[in-house]
Amino acid sequence: MTNRLRLGVNIDHVATIRNARGGAHPDPLRAAEAAARAGADGITAHLREDRRHITDADIDRLMARIALPLNLEMAATPEMLAIALAHRPHAACIVPEKREERTTEGGLDAAGQFDALRPFVEQLTAAGIRVSLFIEPSERQIDAALRLAAPVIEFHTGRFADASGDERATELKRIADAIALAAKNGIETHAGHGLTFDNVAPIAAIPQLAELNIGHFLIGEAIFTGLEASVARMRSLMDAAR
Ligand code: PXP
Repeated sequence: MTNRLRLGVNIDHVATIRNARGGAHPDPLRAAEAAARAGADGITAHLREDRRHITDADIDRLMARIALPLNLEMAATPEMLAIALAHRPHAACIVPEKREERTTEGGLDAAGQFDALRPFVEQLTAAGIRVSLFIEPSERQIDAALRLAAPVIEFHTGRFADASGDERATELKRIADAIALAAKNGIETHAGHGLTFDNVAPIAAIPQLAELNIGHFLIGEAIFTGLEASVARMRSLMDAAR
């Protein structure tokens, strides 16, 4: 397949379950290995400021032991920058982070925080880390991402995932138009948030898209079918949509 869409599996919520009991099981590293066997192209992990799921020790072990590239999701803070520079993961996705949120609720305000973000993009890039900015599919944010010279944009698909009917069609068009605009400007495009077996196909069918990052649904589904089966089914739905 020439236009293969990469799948990054986000393993944060394996750590959420582990942390509910404070022990070592289930192990996110084992989940990363299972995802790799089932056709994942990368592993994504979000080291949050409050360490509610992935921990510093998880990042150490993932960096040392997984064969797949690691995409570290991180807030633009000096602490996270220092961690990323110390580990040099394949990629770093800069996300907005609020302590009180349950998940990453919206995209980064790359336009409003342009000056604050610039040194993060520059230092991560200088360290050889592929930087992506997690933004909403809006022209204003794409324009800021282009000016920040990040090589990758990840578009937030949460509104699409939450919508239904005509509203979902409108959100899908917004995402497809944003991806086309970013790709026309030479930027690699990724997407993620809230994607499931039922809603992934129209997003995966967007031809310029290079990667999806999917977590919560896959880990939840793994309770019923096992993680390898869950990842393999997502992989085949993505392939079928191309
Ligand atoms: N991409 C980014 C940048 C994210 O922050 C998240 C959620 O942590 C995801 C993808 C995956 O979202 P979900 O867990 O809803 O599949």
